[in-house]
Amino acid sequence: MGVLVNGGAGYIGSHTVVELLEENHDVIIVDNFSNSDPIVLDRIKEISGKDFKFYKVDITDIEALEKVFKENNIDSVIHFAAYKAVGESVAKPLEYYSNNLINTLNVLNLMRKYNVKDFVFSSSATVYGDPESCPIFEDFPLSTTNPYGATKLMIEDMIRDICKADDSLNVAILRYFNPVGAHISGLIGEEPNGIPNNLMPYITKVAVGKLEKLSVFGGDYNTPDGTGVRDYIHVVDLAKGHIKALDKLKSNCGLVTYNLGTGNGYSVLDIVKAFSLASGKEIPYEIVERRPGDIAMCYADTSKANSELGWKAEFDISRMCEDSWRWQSNNPNGYVNYDM
Ligand code: NAD
Ligand code: WQD
Repeated sequence: MGVLVNGGAGYIGSHTVVELLEENHDVIIVDNFSNSDPIVLDRIKEISGKDFKFYKVDITDIEALEKVFKENNIDSVIHFAAYKAVGESVAKPLEYYSNNLINTLNVLNLMRKYNVKDFVFSSSATVYGDPESCPIFEDFPLSTTNPYGATKLMIEDMIRDICKADDSLNVAILRYFNPVGAHISGLIGEEPNGIPNNLMPYITKVAVGKLEKLSVFGGDYNTPDGTGVRDYIHVVDLAKGHIKALDKLKSNCGLVTYNLGTGNGYSVLDIVKAFSLASGKEIPYEIVERRPGDIAMCYADTSKANSELGWKAEFDISRMCEDSWRWQSNNPNGYVNYDM
């Protein structure tokens, strides 16, 4: 029986495939490389010494996706495939609603047709909107402020309805906090298109000399040093959370929802300091205006995942920075040899 990994060539997907192969799962990856590079597949093989099946398919094309269900004995699906850039989603809402919603509907429809019961969905802490307090528990109120977040919340709502109507389904909604870091090999990592929006890839591009300095978005938040506080989690810890979630689904648990974070909050300046220590590189920065839509503070309570999944994030912030730096310095141009 195999695990279908939609978006398995992407940042979190590729790290999860490595962990799945390590646990001897049969893996089938589907990706259209809209935000990834085919080289990732070779790198996964190099790290794991194992093989997997791959289909270059756009998941919005249900006929092409059905071929994958027909040709493989799939018993669970991990669904990473989505567009994920908040700012871009404001400029291109139709693309975001189309890709993220149609993808997921196609997968859920085919799962029903082919009698596949176990589904892991990549959700996000963005569904908590601007939380009233931290740490954030899974039963906090949900709201969103941008089309990307809206797609995640709509899909969560869809899943809740579908699970109510069909109690044979087992679904894990995983709400990721801020994934950073890379595989220790330095062979796979995060490679955003163009100028990064997220903090860690921006810092690594400054460190490698591709960008001049970091703009710190706001120094007047109600946080210990005035800069935004987030729950950064190592992508390998996150990947391992998916293996534990799959195990949980095998116990016929129905619908479950977990925060995947470390439970610790770090400010932007904490990250700048930790990164400089880990890399030996000074990160020049300037405090500028707040970024519209940002919140002051966001970190998880992870006790539900800790106790019900038997999972806990292990890597600390210095390891996250070391691994991000190894990836970036080994691959200054990312997977492809271009100059920004
Ligand atoms: P990513 O862009 O690196 O990976 C997504 C992969 O899906 C890419 O390889 C892309 O080519 C593929 N894809 C997108 N649309 C597709 C389609 N129509 N058909 C086939 N393949 C398609 O993103 P990531 O950082 O690995 O994120 C994975 C998931 O986790 C996403 O659903 C994202 O919304 C969610 N998430 C990410 C973060 C984060 O900060 N990285 C945080 C919370 C949640
Ligand atoms: C982190 C902190 C910024 C860049 C986003 C999405 C969320 C989830 C994860 C997908 C904030 C500050 C950043 C920079 C800065 N993605 N910052 N200068 O905004 O917490 O979450 O990614 O689901 O949905 O919203 O992450 O890395 O962009 O920002 O000062 O150049 O770093 O203001 O305090 P964020 P981020």
